[in-house]
Amino acid sequence: MAHLLSSSMDNKMALGIGMPVALLGCYGAYQWYRSRDLPPGPIGLPVVGRLPWLHPSQLHLCIEQMVNKYGDIISFRMGSQLMIAIGNYDMLKEMMNDDNYAARPRPPFLERLIQGCGIFNTEGESWTRQRRLALKSLRDFGFARTRSAEMVDVQLDLIFQLLEKSVEEKQSLRVIDAFTEATNGVIAQLTINRRFKQDEAEFKFLNRAIKSFFETPLFLSLPLLFPYLDPITRILPSADKFIQLVLEFHEFIREQIHIRESILVDESMEPECLCDVYIQEKRKAEKLGDFESYKELQIIRVILEFFMAGTDTTARSLEWLFVLMATHPDIQSKVQSELDQEVGSDRRVQTSDKPKLHFTNAVIEEAYRFVSLAVVGPFHRAKSEAVFNGYRIPKDAVIFPCAYISNHDPRIWSKPNEFYPEHFLDQKGVFTGPGKNVPFLIGRRACPGEGLARMEVFLMFTAIMQRYRVSLAPEFVGKEAKIVKGFISGLRTPGEHRLLFRPR
Ligand code: HEM
Repeated sequence: MAHLLSSSMDNKMALGIGMPVALLGCYGAYQWYRSRDLPPGPIGLPVVGRLPWLHPSQLHLCIEQMVNKYGDIISFRMGSQLMIAIGNYDMLKEMMNDDNYAARPRPPFLERLIQGCGIFNTEGESWTRQRRLALKSLRDFGFARTRSAEMVDVQLDLIFQLLEKSVEEKQSLRVIDAFTEATNGVIAQLTINRRFKQDEAEFKFLNRAIKSFFETPLFLSLPLLFPYLDPITRILPSADKFIQLVLEFHEFIREQIHIRESILVDESMEPECLCDVYIQEKRKAEKLGDFESYKELQIIRVILEFFMAGTDTTARSLEWLFVLMATHPDIQSKVQSELDQEVGSDRRVQTSDKPKLHFTNAVIEEAYRFVSLAVVGPFHRAKSEAVFNGYRIPKDAVIFPCAYISNHDPRIWSKPNEFYPEHFLDQKGVFTGPGKNVPFLIGRRACPGEGLARMEVFLMFTAIMQRYRVSLAPEFVGKEAKIVKGFISGLRTPGEHRLLFRPR
């Protein structure tokens, strides 16, 4: 009896030790099988992967550390999602030009909201069609016309009023709000041909809604990392609040479309904005029995994405430029003496002055490089399993195109971590162009708004530099390193600061 009892206890003990060991073995074998031939990278924890090591507000620096350790292309897991990060310029160029990596991740939460419409989160034939039409409209109404420079001029008048007031009241400023309103104003004119007054209720709604989009709670991105968490997006109150805001924005744009439809009664009328182009395309398609390609939600999403992708980005670029001028006064002086010499102070700088302003062009280009606003994104997705540079890239792997890392690669840039406009000047002081600088990324999905953004930034930056000297408000002097390091909040954002403008 005693013998039988001890043998059953032995069996239980063996089972107690053996089971976990076997399970661990199986998990190890499964992990090995999943990660065979992948780009190198660190091992993570079960379930959460590398998440505990990644700091969301400094994600670019965390990934840079991994790239420095494991190589130009790396893989790691965030939650249950496989991530591939690339920071090498040549690889980035090759991958971003390959149609297999031109897709975006598709969390069900987002799919339900956008229903395959717009440009940013779509792919395939619909994406190609909408992107092509948007690019054409941007060329026609955006950066290629004197009218667009006039749109910027109108916004500059408003900014100057604000700056004058701040001088009179001896107040420092948080410039981002003024720049966001200015870029919203430009996009409103370009997309729906509206020139809002600043105190108009609709414009206030527009500014408030866009600001709230950028404050979207982080947990809404969780279903991307843990797809089984999607149901939370159906029940949580803040998810509901976000969806309500999006739907309200859709409704606002729908009303604008109806206004344009009532104006555009005659087919021979010249379109005056992106919305008009879409209405005309819609009418043509519907005559041929196609009610899908330019349906209302398509137009709504494209316009919404122009506001989302084209306002905060441009405004933040301007904010950064003034922060960098305030923290690099000698560079600011050089910009101002070039502007004085080449343009003078009797008129605003025009785009036709651009070829003469070598140092100023180099300063703007260097700000784009140094900041690399979109740091490690937006994410792409592999459509199907493929081999890239000898590594297996599984279907649905999420790709981080790391503009920040390529733009700080010491093999390309002589002083990668300094603000050094000479990166874009030859020995004679001639501006060399953007070269390998990729703030708008490259390839098939590269930013379609680059031309417009560059024009807005150039005209607004130079006009303000002509008239004002900028410095940090006294309470922020001594905090330059922290301000310039910045943090990620959707885009890379400078640390807390206020600026003082003094007339020159
Ligand atoms: C300085 C300002 C801007 C920066 C730094 C910037 C940067 C970027 C980047 C990095 C991407 C992602 C490209 C990719 O996924 O491969 C992008 C996409 C996009 N941008 Fe911009 N952008 C700026 C301004 C604008 C403006 C002014 C507009 C519109 C008027 C715009 C519209 C878009 C759209 C629609 C996409 C999605 C393209 C697609 O998925 O096919 N952006 N932008």
